[in-house]
Amino acid sequence: MRKKIVAGNWKMNTTPAEGLELVKNVIAQSAEVCECVNFIVCPPFTHLSQVAEAAKGSRVAVGAQNCAAEAKGAYTGEVSAAMIASLGVKYVILGHSERREYYGETSATLNKKMEQAYANGLTPIYCVGERLEEREAERHFEVVKAQIEEVVFNLTAEQFADLVIAYEPVWAIGTGKTATAEQAEEIHAYIRSVLAEKFGEAAESTPILYGGSCKPSNAEEIFAKENVDGGLIGGAALKAEDFIAIGKGF
Ligand code: PGA
Repeated sequence: MRKKIVAGNWKMNTTPAEGLELVKNVIAQSAEVCECVNFIVCPPFTHLSQVAEAAKGSRVAVGAQNCAAEAKGAYTGEVSAAMIASLGVKYVILGHSERREYYGETSATLNKKMEQAYANGLTPIYCVGERLEEREAERHFEVVKAQIEEVVFNLTAEQFADLVIAYEPVWAIGTGKTATAEQAEEIHAYIRSVLAEKFGEAAESTPILYGGSCKPSNAEEIFAKENVDGGLIGGAALKAEDFIAIGKGF
């Protein structure tokens, strides 16, 4: 049995007060959802500490949305994996398409970030996904394969055992357009086969989340697919009711 995960990527939204309110509501309402579902919330750095404190002892885990590629030093504006881990945070999203697109994150940078995450006991949620023009040119398999080969294939077996993958087609993020459940399953199964080429049987245990306009009305159909192990949720993670309703999609 693979872990079932519903992770909320708050992106650059909520004030600290709003974030605290949101996590408290998520924790309270999580009682309505099967214990088998693992919830993660990923707030901005400014309220990571407060949210992690509020979530302590609850079933809701906390993740960061990014970490620095270096361990420490003269890197103005950066936040290290060690700083994040010191707050009781367990996860870090790496390689989100917005980071790749707007902040020029390459596989070389992401390899360093992954190393930092593992060195500090954080579990990476590594994002992959193709752009619209790549899907239209039917290049989505090859794009996703390269994103995996260039980063995930550098992990040790031990590191790989502690990895979450999120497939997020760029054309579905924040657009209201969702991949169909069949499109998600097709590429999730493909991703698992690519992982198996390198890591064998262990790939059977890797949670692969779907992301991109996932919401209460479509979560159940998408989560029903064999190789979809949950979701990475943006917009719909900003309302506790919606986020929880997505968790009920299992
Ligand atoms: P969305 O974002 O749910 O708002 O499409 C998902 C993500 O980017 O993680």
